[in-house]
Amino acid sequence: MAAGDSEPVQHSDTPTQVLLKQGAEGKLFLGQHNGVRCLVKERFSKKYRHPDLDIQLTRQRIKAEQKAFERCKAAGVTTPKLLGVDLPGRKIYMEYLEQAITAKQFVDEAVLEGTANGAKIGKLAEEIGRVVGILHANNIIHGDLTTSNMLLDPVKPNDADLPYKLVMIDFGLSYHSLNVEDMGVDLYVLDRALLSAHSQIPELFGKVLESYKKHNKFKLSETIAKYEEVRTRGRKRTMIG
Ligand SMILES: Nc1ncnc2c1ncn2[C@@H]1O[C@H](COP(=O)(O)OP(=O)(O)OP(=O)(O)O)[C@@H](O)[C@H]1O
Ligand SMILES: [Mg+2]
Repeated sequence: MAAGDSEPVQHSDTPTQVLLKQGAEGKLFLGQHNGVRCLVKERFSKKYRHPDLDIQLTRQRIKAEQKAFERCKAAGVTTPKLLGVDLPGRKIYMEYLEQAITAKQFVDEAVLEGTANGAKIGKLAEEIGRVVGILHANNIIHGDLTTSNMLLDPVKPNDADLPYKLVMIDFGLSYHSLNVEDMGVDLYVLDRALLSAHSQIPELFGKVLESYKKHNKFKLSETIAKYEEVRTRGRKRTMIG
């Protein structure tokens, strides 16, 4: 997240907090959990929803995120460390990866540098495919696979092509499923997201899928068939308008 986006805001119950992002669904700010500096993700209540439904939906999303962090840990997929959850306060507390950039920023920079067809984007695509493959092999459906929901945290020693570790975030729409259609749709969401965010590199998803196939052996051919089917349906819908 760009440091320039930050602005200090005062909350009545806590010391000064630094707002990182204010979205339609919620906000992210730097705060504290048991005295440790961390990232706080707070979900707003939606006034147009029935209050009971609103509370239920918010809880569902926070719990989905919490569950996914636990499942990812067991599966060996890196996420920020989960520090705590406050259901009544609609908040989730997690490790703040201060040095991280989003995969979107990384790709955008490569496009600007004219290296979008080079080794580093190849390595990133391979890494995205590997991580999504592991998620699906462990029956974790992310629900919102985009390059803005993948962080790249610098690692030492540096790898020349990709000197970062891929860290998955934003699991509010995630769930557990053994259904190949769910995995196919998850892949399709990623396909669409890559095409719309990185239209300069139309071959990106193909590279991701190549690597994915090596890491998700669970009903792979059925999953790919479902993905193809969903994509064909999507195309028809676009053509019909
Ligand atoms: N743990 C973290 N450390 C550093 N930066 C983070 C972290 N989590 C999120 N970010 C930054 O904040 C942005 C928004 O976070 P996130 O995707 O979790 O929220 P969101 O898209 O608003 O959530 P939702 O779609 O669930 O409402 C990310 O794209 C990333 O730039
Ligand atoms: Mg997000």
